[in-house]
Amino acid sequence: MKFAEIQSLPFVFENFSFENPVLYNTPDVVVDNKGKWNFSFFKNLNPIILELACGGGEYSISLAQNYRDSNFIGIDIKGARIWKGAKYVMEKGLTNIGFIRSRIELIEHFFAEKELSEIWITFPDPFLKESKSNKRLTSPYFLDKYAQLIKPSGILHLKTDDDTLMDFSIESIGEHPAFEIVETYFDLYNDSEAVKNTNLVNIQTKYEKMHLSNNKTIKYIKARRI
Ligand SMILES: C[S@@+](CC[C@H](N)C(=O)[O-])C[C@H]1O[C@@H](n2cnc3c(N)ncnc32)[C@H](O)[C@@H]1O
Repeated sequence: MKFAEIQSLPFVFENFSFENPVLYNTPDVVVDNKGKWNFSFFKNLNPIILELACGGGEYSISLAQNYRDSNFIGIDIKGARIWKGAKYVMEKGLTNIGFIRSRIELIEHFFAEKELSEIWITFPDPFLKESKSNKRLTSPYFLDKYAQLIKPSGILHLKTDDDTLMDFSIESIGEHPAFEIVETYFDLYNDSEAVKNTNLVNIQTKYEKMHLSNNKTIKYIKARRI
């Protein structure tokens, strides 16, 4: 039922096969928005902000409600989570947000070079085993893709509860030639500077709420595309 409903929504795009990196809007119609999201989908020239591993899309939805002059796209592989966010978007009639159900590994097929103004990575799976570190969304493999898609001076944000992922990301982003780290917080909610940034502390995802209720500290990195 949820899958059928997702397929009927004009603002949800799905990839059905890693080997065939295209997006469908309804099961039979391929939609090629690469390089055309502003013109074909949002129908404006506002900046496009992508949230990776968006889950139910809480972050993108709140930002979309607060910033009507920006466009948001959430991407996640889990259809049931996207369905929840998409249903809310439909009920609220928001027009500056869309969702992609796909593996993030495919993003360069869906967006053109410099098409994005910002990327948010919100509470990605930390893949703690060293042997799986290339699956971390801040590994060089993914950073190379983001470097292509984010405009010069655009921003990459990471929010995480995980110390290993935080340390790994400081190193991987810090060493990447296309990014410079401009802010880091190791305990967002107990940092007098950080709490002044209302976007960082007023919008909380499902996982963020869960981590906060388990007394975990929330960490944040902001990096600028050089
Ligand atoms: C821990 S959850 C966080 C969800 C949401 N951002 C939040 O904070 O509530 C991580 C999400 O990443 C998604 N995910 C992990 N690896 C992915 C990949 N390679 N491609 C697409 N989604 C992925 C999972 O499906 C899951 O919804």
